[in-house]
Amino acid sequence: MKPLGRLRLGVNIDHVATVRNARGSAWPDPLRAALLAEASGADGITAHLREDRRHIRDSDIEALAAGLRIPLNFECAATDEMKAIALRLRPHAVCLVPEKREERTTEGGLDVAGDAARLTDYVAELRAAGCRVSMFIGHDPRQIEASAAIGAAVVELHTGLYSELHAEDRHAETEAELHGLQKGAALAHSLGLEVHAGHGLTYDNVAPIAAMPQVMELNIGHFLIGEAIYRGLDGALDEMRRRMDQAREGL
Ligand code: PXP
Repeated sequence: MKPLGRLRLGVNIDHVATVRNARGSAWPDPLRAALLAEASGADGITAHLREDRRHIRDSDIEALAAGLRIPLNFECAATDEMKAIALRLRPHAVCLVPEKREERTTEGGLDVAGDAARLTDYVAELRAAGCRVSMFIGHDPRQIEASAAIGAAVVELHTGLYSELHAEDRHAETEAELHGLQKGAALAHSLGLEVHAGHGLTYDNVAPIAAMPQVMELNIGHFLIGEAIYRGLDGALDEMRRRMDQAREGL
């Protein structure tokens, strides 16, 4: 299968805020990092406003919503508080993620199937405000089908387990997890969902995920912010972009 389109790179800037908060100072500034990522070819910026505000703060989200030209992907738990913020700021995209243990499925993503009635209404309100809503889920077919059924536009497939297995050189298990992600991407696409992927992606493990033809966007944070220490954010992004494009070539 030919790729469905150019693969977008979304840059998650949460951990710029982690470094800032470690000292209680005003720097490094997540907005400045986001604008640099924008200037360096990022296709979007992701920021996760956690309920405990451990990295990104409300003022960061406000500044990103006002200051970016590229799309903002507002990542949050499906709570009333976060919905009110999203409805006020109307970001391009809202990605719903689990934050509490009981919201997680065995794959680590959101339990959409187990909370379908509530999420149907939740997603409908965000859609009516013009936000593209994505569900951060494992590749379990039940969760993918439930995401389509509740009216989500996008699923972001959780690559955390794949990344962990890859880092531990557990080759057979990595291949099995990759196969699950590939089947999940195909199922999601067949149900009319746009497919994204993310969590734990690095230069070493990105190629097989970027080569999944249905995947339209990767969201990458921790590794890129760390790599920026060595080569600057623009250099870190350039190299990721190169590896993503290379993986996509020849499909
Ligand atoms: N996508 C989602 C939904 C996430 O929650 C995260 C982590 O905040 C990422 C992507 C990026 O993961 P990482 O920081 O490991 O690249």
